[in-house]
Amino acid sequence: MIIAANWKMNLLGHDARDLASEFQKIAKNQSVSDVKILIFPPALYADIVNDVCDDERLSWGGQNTHIARFGAHTGDISAEMYRSVGARYQLVGHSERRADHKESDSYIGAQLRAAHEAGLHMVLCVGEQLDQREAGDAEKVVTEQIARALDEVKEYLPDLWDNLIIAYEPVWAIGTGRVAEPQDVFQMHKAIADYCTHSLGAPQRPQILYGGSVKASNAQTLFALDYVDGALVGGASLQQDAFSGIVAAAIAVQKG
Ligand code: PGA
Repeated sequence: MIIAANWKMNLLGHDARDLASEFQKIAKNQSVSDVKILIFPPALYADIVNDVCDDERLSWGGQNTHIARFGAHTGDISAEMYRSVGARYQLVGHSERRADHKESDSYIGAQLRAAHEAGLHMVLCVGEQLDQREAGDAEKVVTEQIARALDEVKEYLPDLWDNLIIAYEPVWAIGTGRVAEPQDVFQMHKAIADYCTHSLGAPQRPQILYGGSVKASNAQTLFALDYVDGALVGGASLQQDAFSGIVAAAIAVQKG
């Protein structure tokens, strides 16, 4: 299981330092090493977070990458730069970037390419809007997002699958306190798994995380579902108690 913390554009430097050391304690204290914790901090806090990561139980990654390695792109950061200061993961295609920065599926695919070429594991975020779910199009929207992004990295398939994690995040559940129904989460994760193996040629199904208002109180129900391999956590990753509760739920399910 993977429990990933997406800190987004939150925390000041001293808060990030405190929270990072709390995360280090959470990672150290857990008795089951197959729950892996990831932190996606604001890029400025790379060193702070890198200092606490052991890359066995705790690793970190960038929230976003430019598609080029280097160049005249003021304010941007490349996947290779992240890698050079200790990142092991790269978040790609978060719905907030799709909305705020108009990132398209093909641009997101190019980001996968950049991350893969830099030797990073990738967490590809996908998810439908509420009106798309209500129209019965959720699975179509999500599988198309995956297919279009992967279309940009065809020459790296099937190997790229080894380092690709999918995060299913229904847009209407992010930061709203509204969680998808367990049955819907199960159905979507199964649809993603089937689509990846049957239609996109994945040698085995990728790990699939759920994201969208995950909290300690709902985590265990979600983690108990087949095809749910962990969570991508926003709001609840900013508080040590809330996050450690989610990790504890993963451990409890793991021990089964
Ligand atoms: P949330 O965010 O947990 O605050 O809903 C999840 C995410 O955006 O990854």
